[in-house]
Amino acid sequence: MLTIGVLASGTGTNLQAIIDACGSGDINARVGVVVSDNEDAYALERARQHDIDARFCSACDKRQHEEMIQQTFEEHDVGLAVGAGYMRILSPRFVRQWYGRLINIHPALLPSFKGTDGQGDALRYGVKLSGCTTHFMDERADHGPIILQAAVRVHDDDSRDDLARRILRVEHQLLPRSIDLFEQNRLNIEGRRVHIKPGDSWMDRALPDVLYADGF
Ligand code: GAR
Repeated sequence: MLTIGVLASGTGTNLQAIIDACGSGDINARVGVVVSDNEDAYALERARQHDIDARFCSACDKRQHEEMIQQTFEEHDVGLAVGAGYMRILSPRFVRQWYGRLINIHPALLPSFKGTDGQGDALRYGVKLSGCTTHFMDERADHGPIILQAAVRVHDDDSRDDLARRILRVEHQLLPRSIDLFEQNRLNIEGRRVHIKPGDSWMDRALPDVLYADGF
């Protein structure tokens, strides 16, 4: 069975969505370990609550930090590494080692609004649609080949938190589904494009007012 290693810096609701999808059988995988660069991340607490190895790896020295991640992932025989609200940029060295087995979720429609506040940046820019993107990580931040995207409306009276909440609900679908597609061996990277082999669909759980990319 596929073992997932999750990198998370914050509250870990995406981690929770992965844990739940594994628990319900939506994904044929298990979360083996959660690593955080933030000792107080609630993501670590969530891991502990589910008897998942929860590791804080200090991020003072990037090289050491990534060596710790590498070691931890090897210890757990991790087959897929997932960035679920992980707020650090991984070094090219680390990303190269994991290329094709390292996916990330970003709360905007890439390539727009990269960085640490995709939701706020989208709102300030005045876009009428935003959303979320899952992608394979490559050596540039928020840049690698896109797996899935979903778009939501930006309402006139949205606060940053309103929009973030609307996007997060969809993140909780898109990230588990992306892991599921990886586990089913249906993702084929060709340059920048990720072709998704035909198979089952999660469109029966589509939320109203959300546009999902093919493959969802
Ligand atoms: C999510 O919205 C995720 O997309 C975002 O952080 C949040 C983490 O929430 N990630 C980034 O902005 C990465 N650049 P969570 O801790 O509740 O899963």
